[in-house]
Amino acid sequence: MTEEIRLNSSKLGTKEYWNQFYQVEKKNFETNEDDTGECWFDDSDAESKMISFIIDKLNDQEFPFHDEQIKFLDLGTGNGHLLFQLNEDLEEEYDGSEKFIFTGIDYSPDSVEFAANIAKRKYEDIEFKFEQSDLLKSNDPFIIKGIKYNILLDKGTLDAIALNQDPIEEFNGKIGMEVYASQIERLMNKDSVLLITSCNFTESELITIIENNSNLKVWDKINYPSFEFGGIKGSTVCSIAFTIQ
Ligand SMILES: C[S@@+](CC[C@H](N)C(=O)[O-])C[C@H]1O[C@@H](n2cnc3c(N)ncnc32)[C@H](O)[C@@H]1O
Repeated sequence: MTEEIRLNSSKLGTKEYWNQFYQVEKKNFETNEDDTGECWFDDSDAESKMISFIIDKLNDQEFPFHDEQIKFLDLGTGNGHLLFQLNEDLEEEYDGSEKFIFTGIDYSPDSVEFAANIAKRKYEDIEFKFEQSDLLKSNDPFIIKGIKYNILLDKGTLDAIALNQDPIEEFNGKIGMEVYASQIERLMNKDSVLLITSCNFTESELITIIENNSNLKVWDKINYPSFEFGGIKGSTVCSIAFTIQ
């Protein structure tokens, strides 16, 4: 049951916190172009593991879709780093003929501006789109456009959403982490893949949260080095890929 999985509320679950966070990061970048901000879960190498997972699946032609144009959507993109790095690594490590489209969304206008600034200054030849979108609003303008993406990425966004326990009126008092999966499903085709990396939930908790609140089911997962403590096996982060069933 999802009700049994709860995190304590924290300021990291609020928009004010993220706006202030990215205002500072934006300023730092303005004074030093090499400072593109925090890379979440860097200790666990999560970003490079997510990217390798995608490139391996593309090289092995294992994704369920076979489109000539592959649309990536980074959910809660922050500084956009995951998309920038993904683009660089695809250029170096993938020879396929598909065209890639990179879009990042975030509910913080400061994140969107920050990521767009970095794209403009450092990657002017490549088209990255950054848009403001609140994943927990049923009539969010980005979501209701109806565009579907092939590969959807979440690094730490469900984690942040789960740190807010406020009931959401338009979803009958459900909390964000219970609403998340069905909202993301609206951005997916039958053969799209959603890859989520979390540091706040165990693999089985993450699967329960997603599967109990949508039509998504586990498709694959990334393996991280595990530790054993008190007879219980674990790792500091987990990454699970889901598709619609
Ligand atoms: C821990 S940060 C991770 C940022 C980025 N994915 C990364 O790995 O660097 C969580 C992000 O989720 C965004 N976020 C939180 N709730 C959101 C919501 N309801 N809709 C869209 N973005 C949200 C925050 O603004 C923040 O950028």
